Amino acid sequence: MAKAGCLRCSEHQGMLMKKVCLVCLGNICRSPTAEAVFRALVAKRADAHDWVIDSCGTGDWHIGKGPDPRAIRALTSRGYQTDHRARQLAESDYTQFEWLLGMDASNLAHMRQRAPQDSTAQLALLADYDPEGATEVGDPYYGGEEGFYEVLALIERCCAQFLEREYPE
Ligand code: 4NP
Repeated sequence: MAKAGCLRCSEHQGMLMKKVCLVCLGNICRSPTAEAVFRALVAKRADAHDWVIDSCGTGDWHIGKGPDPRAIRALTSRGYQTDHRARQLAESDYTQFEWLLGMDASNLAHMRQRAPQDSTAQLALLADYDPEGATEVGDPYYGGEEGFYEVLALIERCCAQFLEREYPE
């Protein structure tokens, strides 16, 4: 049983966690890339142990699959790692996470459509945090390999800015 007023007990620790979930369509290209980048940035922070970071997709086609090999190659080239398996956005995500960050306008529209009444998460686009002014993290799936490197660079900028703005150290 948690003691009332104890900020170190498991119950209250849960309340102090910072929880962010990155959302795209298939959860095999953009959002697992963003999750890997976000994790690496958070790992360097003093509050690294206070975070829950995950990703998911609005679609169900790739559930259980690892990231696209092109996404893995781009991540690896920049020193990032991922062992993510695709999962679909669930109703519980709207109360589990403080932030659900979509990659494009279509993702965000689907996230809003599916939001349950008791949703407590803030819904936004990761690209809202791009210091260079991109409006979306566009889908690289049907394009060439180079698109994955461009997406990665954009995601790196956005995740760094998100942390600086929303969770300054
Ligand atoms: P993601 O990319 O949303 O960044 O994971 C896509 C992956 C798969 C598909 C579309 C986008 N698909 O149509 O299967």
